[in-house]
Amino acid sequence: MDVLVFLGSPRKKGNTEVLTRTLLEGVSHAGSTPEIIRLNDLKIAPCISCGGCDKTGKCVVEDDMTPLYKKIIATNRIIIASPIYFYGVTAQTKAFIDRTQALWNRKRLQKISGEWKENPARRGFFISVAATKGARIFEGAILTVKYAYDAMDMAYGGEFLVTGPDKRGDMAKYEEKLVKARAAGENFIRGLDAHVD
Ligand SMILES: Cc1cc2nc3c(=O)[nH]c(=O)nc-3n(C[C@H](O)[C@H](O)[C@H](O)COP(=O)(O)O)c2cc1C
Repeated sequence: MDVLVFLGSPRKKGNTEVLTRTLLEGVSHAGSTPEIIRLNDLKIAPCISCGGCDKTGKCVVEDDMTPLYKKIIATNRIIIASPIYFYGVTAQTKAFIDRTQALWNRKRLQKISGEWKENPARRGFFISVAATKGARIFEGAILTVKYAYDAMDMAYGGEFLVTGPDKRGDMAKYEEKLVKARAAGENFIRGLDAHVD
């Protein structure tokens, strides 16, 4: 089974990327093939609320998001990975998430027409890193990602969160977390309770 991984950090080899690649070792160990999509390399315009997808379930904006819709529909496992920026996900991640509104409308329209088929196998996972240890540091991002998965018809399959890493290279100092991340990746694919850290 292929896993789509949306990497929302603009920083190459940054903390989110290191954590994500480590978690993906567990994903591969469980027999899945991850495909990493680096959102910062794509041109994904923000949703302009034109209402086009209300009628068709398809986004009228043509850009690098366009081919991603089919890929999202075709997979049963998605991982969104984003560092915390101002108590939320990065702008790159949020633009991607807002554009999944077309999938939310697709689902709504298919339910109205009777074409909708539930697929309980679909699950999404969230990875995040924040520099500070505020008790509510991940709250906003988790809510955003949960609702994105709802639009993508994915149950929320868990999260792996690390507080502390800030500068590029910091993540490597969190060896204990990285060991747990490998296990979390494996559990996510096997459909077990994912580790929350
Ligand atoms: C624009 C910006 C906003 C940030 N906002 C927060 C924040 O609100 N809370 C926090 O704990 N860290 C914040 N950070 C720190 C990042 O979450 C932290 O450096 C993280 O390790 C970056 O991950 P990366 O290496 O994958 O880019 C912010 C960083 C940037 C660049």
